[in-house]
Amino acid sequence: MAGAPIEALTRVRAHGDPRAENLLVHGDNLAALRLLRARFAGAIRCAYLDPPFNTGRTFAEYADARAPEEWDAMMRPRLEALRPLIADDGAVFVEIDDTQLAPLTLLMDAVFGAQNRISTITVVRSAPTGHKAINAGPVHVSDFLLVYAKDRKRWRYHPQVRVREGFDRAYSTWLEDPDAKPSRWRFRPLSAAVAEALGHASPREATRALGREAFIARVHAHALREARHVVRFAQARYEAIGQAARRVVDRSREAPDRVFVLEREGRPPFIVRGGNRILFLADKVREIDGAPVIVEPLTNVWDDVPFQGIAREGGVVFSRNKKPERLVARVLAMASEPGDWVIDPFLGSGTTAAVAHKMGRRWIGIESGEHLVTLAEPRLRRVIDGADPTGITATTGFSGGGGFVVATP
Ligand SMILES: C[S@@+](CC[C@H](N)C(=O)[O-])C[C@H]1O[C@@H](n2cnc3c(N)ncnc32)[C@H](O)[C@@H]1O
Repeated sequence: MAGAPIEALTRVRAHGDPRAENLLVHGDNLAALRLLRARFAGAIRCAYLDPPFNTGRTFAEYADARAPEEWDAMMRPRLEALRPLIADDGAVFVEIDDTQLAPLTLLMDAVFGAQNRISTITVVRSAPTGHKAINAGPVHVSDFLLVYAKDRKRWRYHPQVRVREGFDRAYSTWLEDPDAKPSRWRFRPLSAAVAEALGHASPREATRALGREAFIARVHAHALREARHVVRFAQARYEAIGQAARRVVDRSREAPDRVFVLEREGRPPFIVRGGNRILFLADKVREIDGAPVIVEPLTNVWDDVPFQGIAREGGVVFSRNKKPERLVARVLAMASEPGDWVIDPFLGSGTTAAVAHKMGRRWIGIESGEHLVTLAEPRLRRVIDGADPTGITATTGFSGGGGFVVATP
């Protein structure tokens, strides 16, 4: 059957490119996951699960109130059915809130192994303002993402960065001539170099002429543009560096005005002056949307992915339960590459499939509710037709194409 990736499922219809293997499965995910094993054992690089949180509510699309042991009994076999599909170098991300965090962690430990636990990421989804004080105690504003590798030793993390808010004021030194030999390098305060570039004799004069705030803003903007010239001195942590680096630090303490360079294979050189490492702002600057910004390594607290303003994302309304495309995009960027298979067994309004498609991954989405037909399927049709300008479309540059098969277990 052309376009049908798996005989075990019943093909219902297809959209777009008939060669496309992407799968939208309409039915219970336990049955579907078990059937998918025939074709996808060990083939899926990344799974994102956003199961019912057991909020105690009844949504228009599905009921979300179970006794704790019932929730456990629902999740366990589904996680067990998912595990064989995950590649040896793959990973599983499960989103949850406070209610089921502890039971889910125990379940994931049992099914994927505590030794394969990678991280528990706190995802900040709202601000405290506007919340009613329902709970005694602090206001809950976060979800959590439990991250497990199929095999921690084999998992390949694709390092991610996030945009830093504001300038890093530790970068306060101007290096006059970065292309000269390090022994010739000359340093002076960043503010003095920028004041001069702006035609002022000193930072004090620039401040008087422009105002303090405006001058600081100009200093930071100039530093970002000329990041190769901007450095900071950071104390070298003795316990974190090797023998050779320690020797360089010791020598540099004895000749504090000299710059010492230790070349290292496969790593940036270790550059020291006065016992301190020299770090370049250029190593932290990326161009995003045409402007230079400072980035820093992603941590396990994600408070930079807004949940506000996603009501119309994908052209679907799925109140309270829809997740931001940017959130899922970060997950897929961390744990998959173009062409990899990605699965979401609790697909909801189709977010993971839409994001995976725009990012060039192959995907499987499973959803039992009628909203697979009324929300997810039309959303994905718009994606392949190039008619969904929302979410991550602009940042990925995706303009349509591809296709998918709708099937039932
Ligand atoms: C929190 S929502 C997912 C929202 C989704 N991440 C999005 O951005 O739209 C959970 C979804 O799981 C679906 N679901 C619950 N139990 C299921 C099952 N046994 N099989 C398939 N889907 C299920 C619900 O119908 C609901 O759409």
